[in-house]
Order: sequence, then structure tokens, then C-alpha cells
Amino acid sequence: MPGVLIVYMSRRGHTARVTRTLMSAIEAQGTECDMMDVVEAKHEGIDWDKYHTVVIGAPVLYGNFDDSVWAFIDQHRPQLEARHNAFFCLSVVARKPEKATVEGNRYMQKFIAKSPWRPQLLKVFAGKVDYPNWGFWDSLSIKFIMKMTKGPTAPDTVIDYTDWNEVQAFALAIDEMAKA
Ligand SMILES: Cc1cc2nc3c(=O)[nH]c(=O)nc-3n(C[C@H](O)[C@H](O)[C@H](O)COP(=O)(O)O)c2cc1C
Repeated sequence: MPGVLIVYMSRRGHTARVTRTLMSAIEAQGTECDMMDVVEAKHEGIDWDKYHTVVIGAPVLYGNFDDSVWAFIDQHRPQLEARHNAFFCLSVVARKPEKATVEGNRYMQKFIAKSPWRPQLLKVFAGKVDYPNWGFWDSLSIKFIMKMTKGPTAPDTVIDYTDWNEVQAFALAIDEMAKA
């Protein structure tokens, strides 16, 4: 039976980790699932016949999603729309419960307003703060966002805000959609 493909973009590895967790949880339901970096997908191509469900995942970076994500959506909109499909995003503002919903997360709302593709399933996750592993400028910018939103700014801060139970629940929702 054709399976699920998750195409993801990850600048610092956390979205990749969320994607891998989704993949394992979907496979645990007996559904085949692959994951592919969006750059790999661009250069290696996708065997679309293998998949009847496609999920895209990306972190919010400086208020937007990476160009590679938008380019993938533009280029593959017909393939996305011909399959079950979903989109998830990570952001640190989503550490606040009211911003961890599709309606309450301004980046997801921006995505919905801008995207010509209308995903069937949408999900917002809180991301990770990892100042020691981010470069100087990235850390400085996020500290600025954190200062404005009353978050942590100490240079040694590493906090994983992701609710991993929510990741498991989203995997089940994807699997249910894939089996429909
Ligand atoms: C360069 C950079 C810019 C970011 N910009 C935002 C932002 O504008 N708003 C926000 O809520 N989170 C922002 N974040 C937080 C990320 O969305 C979050 O840390 C996510 O987990 C990163 O995933 P990754 O490790 O897969 O890149 C930013 C993180 C980085 C590294």
C-alpha cells in the first residue's frame, strides 16, 4: 500500500527530530513512512507513486518559512493536492499555549494567508531554544524576540518546548488520514 512521505526543512536539527518521531510513530501503526529533507527532495526527486499522503514540516525562521519550503510548495502543488496532505510548523512563540493553536499562532495564520496550497491537516508545535548551538547572530535575534515575549535570554539556555505527546497524537492523525 502506498505510504506517507514527510518532507521537512530544519536549520538546527529540531524539526528533523520531530519528523523522525512522527515517522517512527506512523510506522508503528503499520503504515510505511519515509522522510526527506526538502533540499534532498529537490535534488534527488521524489518517487510520487510510492506515496498517497504527503506532509511538510518547517520551523519559523525570522518570522517566515525558508524559501526552499515555499519553492517546494509552488513546484509540487499538483502532487500535494492529488494526495492526502498536511503541514506542521515549529516556533518558539508557540511555547505559550494560546500561541500553540492554528488559530492563535500568527505564523500559521500567515502561512494560511500566503499559501496557494490548503493543507487538509495543520499543526503547530513549540520548538527548541538552543543558544549554545546557535550562532552568535541567530542567538542575538532570538534573545530579542524572547525579551519582547518574556522568555529566557541567558546565553546557556537549552529548552525543548515541544510537547512530544502532541507529536505522537499528530502522528496518529496523519496515520488515520493515510488509511482513509
Ligand atoms: C535563525 C532562527 C530564527 C528563528 N526565528 C523565529 C521566529 O521568528 N519566531 C519564533 O517563534 N521562533 C523562531 N525561531 C525558533 C525556531 O522556530 C525553533 O527553534 C525551531 O525549533 C527550530 O527548528 P530547527 O532546529 O529544525 O531549525 C528561530 C530559530 C532560529 C535558529
